[in-house]
Amino acid sequence: MNGKIDFRGIRVLSLDDNMLDTRVLEELLEGTGVILDATASAEEALKKLSREEYDVVMIDHMMPGVDGITLLKLLRDKHVCDGVPVIAVTGNTITSAKENYLQAGFSGYVSKPIDKNTLLETLAISLGFCRAAEDKPQKSSVLVVDDNRMNLLVAQKILADDYSVSIVTSGKAALEFLQYNNVDLILLDLRMPEMDGFQFMEHIKDQERLKSIPIICLTADDETESEVKCFELGAVDFIAKPFIAEVMRHRISRTLELDRLREDLQNEVNKQTHSLKKYSEKMSRLTRQVFRTLAGTIDAKDKYTNGHSLRVAEYSRMIAKRLNMSQQEQEDIYYIGLLHDIGKIGVPDDIINKTSRLTDEEYAVIKTHPSIGAEILDKMSEIPDISVGAKYHHERYDGRGYPEGLCGENIPLVARIIGVADAYDAMTSNRSYRDVLAQDYVRGEIEKGKGTQFDPVFAEIMLRIIDSDKDYVLREHK
Ligand SMILES: [Fe+2]
Repeated sequence: MNGKIDFRGIRVLSLDDNMLDTRVLEELLEGTGVILDATASAEEALKKLSREEYDVVMIDHMMPGVDGITLLKLLRDKHVCDGVPVIAVTGNTITSAKENYLQAGFSGYVSKPIDKNTLLETLAISLGFCRAAEDKPQKSSVLVVDDNRMNLLVAQKILADDYSVSIVTSGKAALEFLQYNNVDLILLDLRMPEMDGFQFMEHIKDQERLKSIPIICLTADDETESEVKCFELGAVDFIAKPFIAEVMRHRISRTLELDRLREDLQNEVNKQTHSLKKYSEKMSRLTRQVFRTLAGTIDAKDKYTNGHSLRVAEYSRMIAKRLNMSQQEQEDIYYIGLLHDIGKIGVPDDIINKTSRLTDEEYAVIKTHPSIGAEILDKMSEIPDISVGAKYHHERYDGRGYPEGLCGENIPLVARIIGVADAYDAMTSNRSYRDVLAQDYVRGEIEKGKGTQFDPVFAEIMLRIIDSDKDYVLREHK
């Protein structure tokens, strides 16, 4: 089985305080495609999980001062690995250990010394790439439910060679049986005392574990209406009484085969969905990296504005968040903020970095950067406002800005947000001729600019952000 599973790109975080065991794990996973990240401290694991994405976490059951079950609870409480399967790795060989770990919420269990096949199988099962061996007995199991003992005996005789057959005499007895046993198929009589076949199907149709078990109803010739009702309740087929051995065998084997195919298909869908999710996450990470790299390139052009684009992007996103904009809009405005000054690339270095007073001509050249930026970003259609943000971020609410002198709400919304964030960062960054300005002073300037330089609504939000920043963290740090 292991040879067929493709683990390429699967990221596993291992938490084990024993370096030797970590080395062994590395060797076992070598060549499988798994990307292993390991740490010996629970604290470090928490940090890694909150920063990075993993597909599986493996936890040694006995870390210094804390056991694996407590640690799993901590990870779940902190929501750092929601939806990520966690496997217990333990030297505990007592028979009940596995049940304890599974009950505690671990998705799997491997004991030390780790066997490579068991490890890969547990990984594959945890990732939903295949089912556990104990769920797939060699002989398929069939539960026959019928109040007529003769029917039960006949069915058992017909099926005993090919299937593991269990028999019960009522719907209630079937429910009890299914509480503790898994079956692959149910043969269900319709007319039974206490709980008939219909009530039985009604009962299990909302139960996750039971509703997917295929049911074949056992019917008499005169039950056409019942057959329709059975289909509606989820039955997959019928077998008429009295039973004909060959018909019964064929119908059961065909149903089980279809069920197996459905399950294989589901596994394939799970696998493909997983790889697509991985690919999409990778592309998102790449997009973020490309944007941040571009922002770094823009800021490198101007030696006095180190990190400016990143901070403007961050402040713009904070304003968008307080405006209750959607997650997508917040993300878009972050990217718009990152590239708002991209037009500076087209302005000569000696003008951008000039420390003495600019001439009128030089200032006119500086003022071309919004339009240059808009042209550069014009083709980036996935974020339509990105070019707008670059073009209008130096407009002023009172119409005295550039390049077009737009005023009020004629200035696009994203540009009004970036305008406030941009001015805030200019005052809270170091310059060649001064340090970061005092927070009180900056607050006063934003207050003063409400309705003149800035959109009053967004300036007010910036003021609230300043007021909640008690330690004056939102500034350039040397
Ligand atoms: Fe600018």
